[in-house]
Amino acid sequence: MPQRPYIVGNWKMNGTRAMLSEARAIDRAAQRHMKVEVAVAPPYTLLHAVHREAAQIAVGAQDCHPGEEGAHTGDISATMLADAGAKFVILGHSERRMGHGESNELVRTKAEAALDAGMRVIMCCGETEETRNSGKATGFVLDQLRASLPEQVENPLESIAIAYEPVWAIGTGKAATVQDIGEMHGAIRTLLIDLYGEEQGIEIRILYGGSVNPENARELLGADEVGGALIGGASLTADSFMGIALAAGEIEDN
Ligand code: PGA
Repeated sequence: MPQRPYIVGNWKMNGTRAMLSEARAIDRAAQRHMKVEVAVAPPYTLLHAVHREAAQIAVGAQDCHPGEEGAHTGDISATMLADAGAKFVILGHSERRMGHGESNELVRTKAEAALDAGMRVIMCCGETEETRNSGKATGFVLDQLRASLPEQVENPLESIAIAYEPVWAIGTGKAATVQDIGEMHGAIRTLLIDLYGEEQGIEIRILYGGSVNPENARELLGADEVGGALIGGASLTADSFMGIALAAGEIEDN
């Protein structure tokens, strides 16, 4: 049975406790849209509070350290996140790869730690505008994923999702085209089958991320092999975020 569309909000470095009312509103709306799986990744400081308020949505983190515990000032381990209520962690986001110099190998060890702590991983990938213009986007993204994804995963269908997020589409208002998304997701699907076998690889959800909003969601989520969306800016209010979830549910109705 195909999985439900997975609509995930990435709040990035946004939100104080005043945002808890948006989380509550998202949670209430998610209870009315059960055909869609809705999740939010707030900053660490709100993780536990959102978890405590949420009856329906899953709460996740935006990063984790690969180690279990120890002398790592400022870092948070996967075990700590799970303890605070996180059910998933977003890893390999381009803002971490570029802003914090995270290599594929580091991202992979973080993913292994997150899986060991019992969390799902949303593994991000995506090319820069320069790479796309040079015609090498697909090869780049597949290499990045191959090197970032753990090989031994017990139940990949339940524990892994991919987010294809072209760097040039993030926060720019310039989403990728349906054709480009369909082509890239098709190539990622082939890789997932290769890595995790036909039975599970065929159903692992591949999200699209990059300037998704309530207006373009229907079109983008309707592209081939799109199993949901990872949303930044438009996830910061319940109205726009749930507008996207609504669009995802309507596609499923067709
Ligand atoms: P955006 O961000 O929706 O603001 O483009 C997406 C992301 O970075 O996950």
